[in-house]
Amino acid sequence: MGFYGTMRINEKGHLEIGGCDTVDLARVYGTPLYVMDEAAIRQECRAFRRALESRHADSEVIYAGKAFSTMAMCRIADEEGLGLDVASGGEIVTALKAGFPAERIYFHGNNKSRADLEMALRARIGRFMVDNLYELEMLHDLARQLRVKAHVDFRVTPGVEAHTHEYIRTGQLDSKFGLGLQNGQAMMAVEKALAMDGIVVHGLHCHIGSQIFELESFKVACEIMMDFIAKVRRETGFTCEELNLGGGLGVRYVESDVRASVEDYASLVIDALYRKAREHNLPVPRLLVEPGRYIVGQAGTTLYTVGSIKDIPGIRKYVAVDGGYTDNPRVALYGARYHVIVANKANYDPVELVTIAGRCCESGDMLAWDVRLPRLEPGDILAFLTTGAYHYSMSSNYNRFARPAVVFVRDGEADLVVERESYEDVAAHDRIPQRLLKHHLASVR
Ligand code: LLP
Repeated sequence: MGFYGTMRINEKGHLEIGGCDTVDLARVYGTPLYVMDEAAIRQECRAFRRALESRHADSEVIYAGKAFSTMAMCRIADEEGLGLDVASGGEIVTALKAGFPAERIYFHGNNKSRADLEMALRARIGRFMVDNLYELEMLHDLARQLRVKAHVDFRVTPGVEAHTHEYIRTGQLDSKFGLGLQNGQAMMAVEKALAMDGIVVHGLHCHIGSQIFELESFKVACEIMMDFIAKVRRETGFTCEELNLGGGLGVRYVESDVRASVEDYASLVIDALYRKAREHNLPVPRLLVEPGRYIVGQAGTTLYTVGSIKDIPGIRKYVAVDGGYTDNPRVALYGARYHVIVANKANYDPVELVTIAGRCCESGDMLAWDVRLPRLEPGDILAFLTTGAYHYSMSSNYNRFARPAVVFVRDGEADLVVERESYEDVAAHDRIPQRLLKHHLASVR
């Protein structure tokens, strides 16, 4: 698979990212280690903005923080002029602590808590992406109490479901997210909100799926949303000023994936936007998009150290590494596949078929089935590519393993942006009730 970003093989025959030898990174910071190519992230931010803004000046690229939310990443999104989509109070606090401007924060979620809504209102975040009527009423109530206005977009389900290489238009809207468009829920919510003095309605949002290569599905979603915007104006007199088409653009994990083109995406969607605006005699709305994976996915690489190797002659060779399900649950969850490079033997020819196993106490903890690699020995460093999105953010402490560190690399320098957890950290929130303390009985006697 061709290299992405600043990745290359250096004079020592080692994998290098951002001018840093990954074998050195593994030695200095330990493994497993998430390595993020900062120049590549910035380049994707710029490419996304350019693709949209060159065709429709009134556009905003909003980074979907759920893909990889850390304070350093919020700084980059801010410096690159992106907005920020947050999915929880935790992501809001992370952004605010990083100095991310509240007015460019978009708050998503199908069951936002009252406490999180209140915190977000007090922080004056830019938009509440309202998912349902329960939330709308709670938000209105809070806004009145606090004597502020809540600025909202409505998340609707347009009835387009996209899969990696196909899409389907569904009549029924079987999703936990959003207000149904066809069944009148969305219209009802807009009407209700327009009559609420604590709520300011700006527009509509939809998100049709993730890791999508079938660009046509975005176009269809855009058309359906514009038809609905026209209907809202006919029925209520209200003209939506913004349309948010969510995220979803697909990236490359293995050789057979072809990274989606952001230029093709922008031209397809913006053509549809203008065509529909003309057809309905509507002003062209502000266009918002929320890429996550596309911005950080391929910029991330996970480094592991090879440990035990179990050869079952005639059956399979298992090579175990010092990470697994806890830093990458995507293999177990979605059957995800990855391109693997032996970082310290990056020039060697592949000679054997192996299966890379994780270290968790669970047979399903596998990282890659049947990959062709150079001969492996304990101590080798494996690099899994395209682990920048939904890896650190989905990591866990299963088996009470400690979460890995994250480093940003750029121009030959590495900066720690998340410290490695210690086992002490893992147990830090535990409490033992008095009656269970080891010496309790002895002390009360
Ligand atoms: N906007 C909304 C409302 C979303 O729900 C999502 C992702 C995005 C934007 C960003 O989508 P992206 O551009 O990253 O595809 N854990 C899964 C992915 C879940 C995506 C959830 N929503 C995975 O590891 O593949």
